[in-house]
Amino acid sequence: MNGSSILVTGAAGEIGHALIRELATNQGNHITALDLRDISREYSQRNVTTIRGDVCDSSLINSLIEKNYDIVFHLAALLSTSAENNPDRAHAVNVDASARLLSKLSINALERNRKVKFIFPSSIAVHGVDPSAADAPVKEDQYLNPITVYGINKLYVEQFGAYLARRTRNTALRLNRKGQLIFRAIRFPGILSPDTVPTGGTSDYGPEMLHAAAQGKAYECFVKPDSTLPFCTMSDAVRALLMLVDAPEENLTRSVYAITAFSVSAEQIREKVCQAFPEAQIGYNPDPARLAIVESWPRYIDDSAARNDWGWLPEYNFERAFTENLIPAVRNFYNKAESHHSSVSA
Ligand code: SER
Repeated sequence: MNGSSILVTGAAGEIGHALIRELATNQGNHITALDLRDISREYSQRNVTTIRGDVCDSSLINSLIEKNYDIVFHLAALLSTSAENNPDRAHAVNVDASARLLSKLSINALERNRKVKFIFPSSIAVHGVDPSAADAPVKEDQYLNPITVYGINKLYVEQFGAYLARRTRNTALRLNRKGQLIFRAIRFPGILSPDTVPTGGTSDYGPEMLHAAAQGKAYECFVKPDSTLPFCTMSDAVRALLMLVDAPEENLTRSVYAITAFSVSAEQIREKVCQAFPEAQIGYNPDPARLAIVESWPRYIDDSAARNDWGWLPEYNFERAFTENLIPAVRNFYNKAESHHSSVSA
């Protein structure tokens, strides 16, 4: 991926932050970071250009396509709880904007005889399991009956992206051209980051417990103590994206891969957080709608396809995630914020 021209949509989101930090360390990459919010102050790296704009703005997308990106990380999305609260906006952002961007990239690839990679973060939300079902790890093609609009949106784009990649390849063959749209997706579990908190997701109780405790704030968890989901750290999520971008085409047997690192209950997360922050006040007040969403998602994920095809292996299991990554980094994050605050107010 060295020396690539890269577009990242949803650049101010959780994954966007961590991904751009990583991509920008490679001076050869040129990154365009697009978000609705003004992010010009957040990215001071010389190889990052920030653009404030809406992925739903078709003329903005047209002008961006002209820049002939090699790789597009299309991260802009409304997460599951936000999408339930605003399904029309979710459809516009999660589906319409994604499909439009894919179509325009396909045309650009064919017209200019170029190869473009489209990397899409999908989710465990594409599954809809029976909460009483056995705990066998779920594979990519099982239980594709999402109960949320977010899951439906993600499943559509997974399938549309794979379809358009095939169609672009067939058209290129017929016209004797080399243009290629490469579509690859990762289905993420819940993601735990030490320096950002997600907004509007339903696996958010995990990171919210951690960040509330680190700030000395009380927290009420919106699921039950035994509610269990698969999770990974943000650093593993970003690593997975970078591994999949570079995976040789001939090794891949699918366009959509599930990954996971560890499955844990809310109570296990609470215990880990309380070990590190003994003063933490974390209680439970389940929200029926959000609980139903969590209970429809698989508790365990079979990520053997990703392991076999492109060598996916999480760096952090549950124990190491907290002791070596999340706890020290979240302390550092709030200490820095604290010292910045006192030096500004001194
Ligand atoms: N973390 C996402 C959410 O909670 C699921 O992929 O919406």
